[in-house]
Amino acid sequence: MKYNSEIEKRKTFAIISHPDAGKTTLTEKLLLFGGAIQTAGAVKNNKIKKTATSDFMEIEKQRGISVATSVMAFQYLGKQINILDTPGHKDFAEDTYRTLTAVDSVILIIDSASGVEAQTKRLMEVCRMRNTPVIIFINKMDREGRDSFDLLDELEDILKIKVRPLSWPIGIGATFQGVYNIYNKELNLFAANKTKISEDVISIEDVNDPALDEVIGEAPAETLREELELVEGVYDQFDRETYLSGEVAPVFFGSAINNFGVKELLEAFLDISPSPIGRETSEGFVAPDSKNFSGFVFKIHANLDPKHRDRIAFLRIVSGKFERNKFYNHVRLEKKMKFSNPTSFMAQDKSIIDEAFPGDVIGLYDTGSFKIGDSLTEGPAFSFKGIPSFSPEIFMELENKDPMKSKQLEKGIQQLTDEGVAQLFIQQPGNRKIVGTVGQLQFEVISYRLENEYGAKCAFVPKRYYKACWMTTDNQDKLDAFIRAKSIYIATDKDDNYVFLAETPFLLQMAQSDYPEIEFHFTSDFKVGQEV
Ligand code: G4P
Repeated sequence: MKYNSEIEKRKTFAIISHPDAGKTTLTEKLLLFGGAIQTAGAVKNNKIKKTATSDFMEIEKQRGISVATSVMAFQYLGKQINILDTPGHKDFAEDTYRTLTAVDSVILIIDSASGVEAQTKRLMEVCRMRNTPVIIFINKMDREGRDSFDLLDELEDILKIKVRPLSWPIGIGATFQGVYNIYNKELNLFAANKTKISEDVISIEDVNDPALDEVIGEAPAETLREELELVEGVYDQFDRETYLSGEVAPVFFGSAINNFGVKELLEAFLDISPSPIGRETSEGFVAPDSKNFSGFVFKIHANLDPKHRDRIAFLRIVSGKFERNKFYNHVRLEKKMKFSNPTSFMAQDKSIIDEAFPGDVIGLYDTGSFKIGDSLTEGPAFSFKGIPSFSPEIFMELENKDPMKSKQLEKGIQQLTDEGVAQLFIQQPGNRKIVGTVGQLQFEVISYRLENEYGAKCAFVPKRYYKACWMTTDNQDKLDAFIRAKSIYIATDKDDNYVFLAETPFLLQMAQSDYPEIEFHFTSDFKVGQEV
């Protein structure tokens, strides 16, 4: 059946890493394999310079490019591969977390010298919340890095996931000779090569074959045998089900810049990674092959040109077939909408499409109807769960600097926060606006865009909050009492949920021990989907 084979052939995933581990490089190599780009360096432009924290114009420029490269689709070995790009800059981490709700699996890159880093840990926490299947690629094996067993231990300890090596390195840095592919029982010999995409592969079914000694030398062959024996002794056999359920992460070693280990990673990925999977909704689980179209918005991009206020909403298709010019339910607005110019994203190109299938991400032109998390459905109306807001880390009160433009400011901040640039909390009395972000950069983005797109001027006054906590309870009276007692630390989010703005970890602990009936959450995940 054509429809099912369309679903089967799709692989929608993201590549995630701490900045500098090699995400851009690996993405580019994958695109080269897929023939989606012809030269190295093409993706590089998309990267927001890590040092340019205050160079907002740079970001503006990059934003324009990244609309096209936010989703990179290409065909390889009969599969339709959709890579969802995630921003490299840590200040845009929340954007990355939301993008992870739209993928079916991830490839996590670790720098062999640095091991698990701060951002690696946070990204994995988000993957674990959703049991997203993870493949780990240990990169930069051409450099002096850490012992492979130590790295694997660190992955298990810190990331709290079991690992299973499917390839194994022979030496490291100056002595790096290649990897033995446990999955295919092949030996890949390393040759530094930044452009070629083929690899020298020697089939070695049995590592005790003396041919191994001839190729890599006696001592390295002996070490490899010992290490492989240890691998087999320590780690459980690879089992696809435990990978698909997010319990075990298969591990590959390589060097992205040298195009080494990339092809085997990609091919194993195509073999084992999940095809589009369904999602939980307010009306139960929706499978990709269910007849009616459904999807959700996980990202909104503003138009670069201030004269055109339209935006692009990125919609992940969960089920059914999306068709151009067909009416669908915009669930939150209880409105029928059709789209005459839906776009697909092929590497650096955008083109109008007539139909799209589960796993695909399409761009919908929007003049302000969409918020992140919105659902579109055909037939019954329901909304998707699990597009969480995470507690911001930096809080500032928004001040209006031009009283004549307060309407513009109001509209601007509403729209920018709908796009997910930052979160908005309202405090009473006086409707005070507290803007929360994960990075300093967003405040620059907001004041620049408020002024350039809405003609409003603002200032930000720092607030010393540690976290915003969403609250749940079975005891409404206690929650009401808490809200009264702590009124100066209480605000409402965009969906009118109360949040507690805790000033310090200690004050949060105090609240937890004084009000054991209330549960405090650092994400809004529990509530998404209950709004309908
Ligand atoms: P990111 O997107 O995760 O932030 O990382 P990116 O791919 O930009 O890689 C970060 C740096 O690491 C780059 O060097 C890149 O060339 C280098 N790199 C990536 N893969 C490998 C590898 O397998 N081996 C080695 N030795 N280096 C690797 P840079 O100096 O920051 O940038 P550039 O001057 O190379 O552009």
